[in-house]
Amino acid sequence: MAVLACFSIKGGVGKTTTAVTLSHIAAQLGMRTLVWDLDPQGAASFYLRATPGEKFAKSMDKNIKRLSRYIVPTAYKRLEVIPTRFSNRRLEDLLSQGSGSDKRLKKILFPLQLQYDLIVLDCPPGVSNVAANALHASDVVLVPTIPTPLSVRTLRQLRRYVRELDCKATVWPFFTMFDGRRSTHKNIRDYYLGVHTEDMLQSVVPYSAQVERMGVAKRPLTDYAWSSPPSVAYRNLFEELQSEFRRLEQGR
Ligand SMILES: Nc1ncnc2c1ncn2[C@@H]1O[C@H](COP(=O)(O)OP(=O)(O)O)[C@@H](O)[C@H]1O
Ligand SMILES: [Mg+2]
Repeated sequence: MAVLACFSIKGGVGKTTTAVTLSHIAAQLGMRTLVWDLDPQGAASFYLRATPGEKFAKSMDKNIKRLSRYIVPTAYKRLEVIPTRFSNRRLEDLLSQGSGSDKRLKKILFPLQLQYDLIVLDCPPGVSNVAANALHASDVVLVPTIPTPLSVRTLRQLRRYVRELDCKATVWPFFTMFDGRRSTHKNIRDYYLGVHTEDMLQSVVPYSAQVERMGVAKRPLTDYAWSSPPSVAYRNLFEELQSEFRRLEQGR
């Protein structure tokens, strides 16, 4: 099992889009995949048509430890989800209690390791107990980054945060919402993928109205537009990630 966190300090950068799309690709390619929607905004649950009822949400807030109870199927083979809804805001408190609380989520996930090939954590934005727990539980932290100066600056803050937490995960940023008509986007992409190549994935997801349609279609992008340019970019990104997963498997 590999654990992948879609994380950024910033909101609205494509974390959920990435979590849902990559999970769908993984499942299509034969991997048993679980998405855990850790953001009470519940966008991943919405895209996968799995928003839970109030009763489910209440029981989840009472006993998060028995996680397998909260796994539900999606419309897609091999793709399951732990959904959430806006009332599930207690996770932050549940993960802050007692010593070693930063590693609690990792412990909760442990019993699932034989059940899945890939677990994807869709994180809320910002630094929080949930974020710290997700980072400690992950092998790879995938950071969607819009090619602007401020986003690249935030990336440096994120790396510092991961170092301060003493996380072992590999941090992999990639560019998304890339608009080739904007010179700032092009200059930043060329610099970070050509000159300063350190630790940045090569796949670039373009800005595309096809991606925005996810909210209307309530389906993963790769379900309704498998061959579109952003889907191809996400499939390339997944291939890049797979080599990292293989390396992790060999190290175990
Ligand atoms: N490559 C893209 N092209 C166009 N719009 C995108 C792209 N990626 C994400 N979006 C849109 O940007 C908004 C924020 O994306 P989302 O994945 O919800 O971000 P986050 O989870 O980081 O808050 C959504 O409306 C989404 O449809
Ligand atoms: Mg999100």
